Amino acid sequence: MNKENHINNNRKINYLRLSITDRCNLRCKYCMPEEGIDYLPHSEILRYEEMIHIVRLSVKRGIRKVRLTGGEPLVRKGCIDFIKQLGKIEGLDEVTLTTNGVLLKKYAADIKAGGVHRINVSLDSLRPDRFFQITGHDCFEQVWEGIQEAERQTFSPIKINVVAIRGVNDDEIADFARLTLEKPYHIRFIEVMPIGGQNSTLDNFIPVEEIHGIIQGLGDLKPIHRRNNLDGPAQRFVLEGGKGEIGMIGAMSSHFCDICNRLRLTAEGHIRSCLFSDHEIDIKTPLREGKGDDSLLELLDRAIEKKDNSQGVLRPGPRKCVRQMSSIGG
Ligand code: GTP
Ligand code: 5AD
Ligand code: SF4
Repeated sequence: MNKENHINNNRKINYLRLSITDRCNLRCKYCMPEEGIDYLPHSEILRYEEMIHIVRLSVKRGIRKVRLTGGEPLVRKGCIDFIKQLGKIEGLDEVTLTTNGVLLKKYAADIKAGGVHRINVSLDSLRPDRFFQITGHDCFEQVWEGIQEAERQTFSPIKINVVAIRGVNDDEIADFARLTLEKPYHIRFIEVMPIGGQNSTLDNFIPVEEIHGIIQGLGDLKPIHRRNNLDGPAQRFVLEGGKGEIGMIGAMSSHFCDICNRLRLTAEGHIRSCLFSDHEIDIKTPLREGKGDDSLLELLDRAIEKKDNSQGVLRPGPRKCVRQMSSIGG
């Protein structure tokens, strides 16, 4: 492996997804059981200073972009100060955030001032009653106002993640797509993944091909070509005359392993090379034992080496990823 260029199979591993908490203030049906999950004890969750240490080291190994995820990152106390500290790390070009939007109205200005470059908001329905059915909480208006506030704070682009589920929100695919005619949002449809052992979601899976077909009926849908590998796995489109964009993330049907540039750090302090592989490297224990930076860098190197080209969820064999999505951060 070439350490300078953090290359694995021609992929530049330059994007770290940092799950800062496994806690969440929603209970999306495809993600968590209604009664919630057993949360990690606080002592098992990485402290902010530990995360800063690991991010600093990973920048030495070529990480240029960090995305804060959860659970819901904004429920963790002190996250705004943490964001500010991340913003000061030299060599880190981009700090981004994925949120469910419930606390966005309250925090958008602070997040912006803290130096977050872009935000992605999860929103699976534009109908308040359905939002409640999916998430178990009556917060649609709150999330919508959060998105408007993010727009006022000039976040750009604002990406909205819609997990497409048959029989749940498939009749809203066109509504979401039409939103891009009026608003500058990037609406991204995501194929639902059977993460955390909830294989039943496979029955409700809608392939992006089908989503594409639905949206095509609304007007001229033009593809946008990928600019660089910080772009992520979405295939991007624009509806003629649209202010925003439409993205389709074929998390199940298309193998984007060969362009995958990510590492993940779980809230518990384990590095994951792939969303779909349960192979994890514990970096928290050696860090807490006071191991030096060289040993910790070796663990990062191992995680980068461990990324293979074919971990995809559709690979034959037993299904991987026994963890809940909320503890990995998507
Ligand atoms: P951008 O930086 O805006 O491109 O963000 P992103 O798409 O990486 O981040 P976001 O948190 O918005 O993730 C969107 C969704 O894409 C995730 O929730 C997953 O459903 C899916 N996704 C993200 N990373 C992976 C991955 O490595 N493999 C697969 N199969 N799906 C992924
Ligand atoms: N399949 C696809 N996407 C999922 N997300 C959470 N669980 C799943 C799943 N099983 C999405 C959320 C959020 C992102 C971080 O992950 O909706 O947008
Ligand atoms: Fe929903 Fe995200 Fe919370 Fe899971 S972590 S319950 S997908 S908001």
